[in-house]
Amino acid sequence: MRRLFLVALLLCLASAAQPPAAPAQTTPRAASLMVRAGRLEAAARRDLRTAGRERRLARAAAKKAPRRSARRHRSRAARYRKRARSRRKHAASLRRRAAALSQVKAVAASAPPRRAPVPLGTALDWRVARTDPALADAFLRHFDQMTPENELKMYALQPLRGAYSFASADRMVDWARAHGKRVRGHALVYGSQLPAWLTARDWTRDELLEVMRDHIQAVMTHFRGRVTEWDVVNEGVVDWGDGLTPNIWSQVIGPDYVDYAFRFAHEADPGAKLFYNDWGIELPDHPRTVAVRKLVSGLKSRGVPIDGVGIQDHVTNRYNATGPQVAETLRRFAAMGLDVAITEMDVQTDSGGSRADQLEAQRHAFAGSAWACRMEPRCTSFTSWGISDRYSWIETPGMAPLMFDDALEPKPAFADVEDWIKKP
Ligand code: XIL
Repeated sequence: MRRLFLVALLLCLASAAQPPAAPAQTTPRAASLMVRAGRLEAAARRDLRTAGRERRLARAAAKKAPRRSARRHRSRAARYRKRARSRRKHAASLRRRAAALSQVKAVAASAPPRRAPVPLGTALDWRVARTDPALADAFLRHFDQMTPENELKMYALQPLRGAYSFASADRMVDWARAHGKRVRGHALVYGSQLPAWLTARDWTRDELLEVMRDHIQAVMTHFRGRVTEWDVVNEGVVDWGDGLTPNIWSQVIGPDYVDYAFRFAHEADPGAKLFYNDWGIELPDHPRTVAVRKLVSGLKSRGVPIDGVGIQDHVTNRYNATGPQVAETLRRFAAMGLDVAITEMDVQTDSGGSRADQLEAQRHAFAGSAWACRMEPRCTSFTSWGISDRYSWIETPGMAPLMFDDALEPKPAFADVEDWIKKP
């Protein structure tokens, strides 16, 4: 009893000697990030301890090798060594994630109050939405905005030259709007998913410019007032290196096809917001991002009517940009006088570790971009490229890149994205 009293007394004295804690300058969000960073750190420490134990076991097994059945021990030692190595690697990756989380946490703690909520969008495939009412319901319940996944592309809208087929797109757009949702138009001029009549023959520059103008004119006029934001040019910069993607538009018309596309679009619907949209431009200094900045700054300097840049954000657990990196990318486009949007995000779960680890990494990637969008005053919407893993365009098995699983249950990423994007 007396011992207990002494311990209590010592504890009291020790705490009295501490300076009073400074009022925590943190938000609930930062606090929860801090808890998660702490958990990752603890997991990393556990992994490192196991790695140490396995290294010792490897040494012991190797020592025994000359005596008893040498081969058995040597191979056991090799196995232990391999496990120790992979543990260490795992621990290092957990540490990196914990560090990235703390970075987000630090920015979150000092962040100004959030601006108004941003529309949360998703791509939707109309055939799937019609055959799976649960998917349509999930869209109506959780999302504010729809991007028709393929229905507004040229092959779908103009399957024969001059013979436009608007029926399916109309139904889809009107259904979304009747439920109070916004619709993003995707995509007017794209090198893929073109109708056969276009790719099957040769064109002169003037003929192709006319085809482009007709298409843009017909489509934008048709949807005027219903679709007020369009990806005018999609995936225009070459995958690796400099210059433009080699496609029918750039090859027949030349690099100024981009200028023409935007000018035609402005002519067709002067009230619409016109976006350039591309993939692999999440990191602020990636060569593709630099190339897109160069392209759009050229457009602006020539007085071409462009309003914004869409960042597709197709990434994986292993290859993605942190929230602060995406924020910097958005900030630099915004500084050029442009709106920005995250237009097609999905995150393939290609990292090692348990399923829970993978989902945690996926949540982290989604949350980073959602946070960056909410913090950037010029970010106009955040869109994932589909709702459920079951219907994702990513066909590699097991990649589960979306925020809802096969059974349409929300995955960890969704709560974070919803929180960042929608909470007042
Ligand atoms: C994809 C669709 O999701 C698929 O259904 C279709 O088969 C191919 O196109 N970048 C884009 C989108 O801009 O248009 C692509 O959509 C995905 C990559």
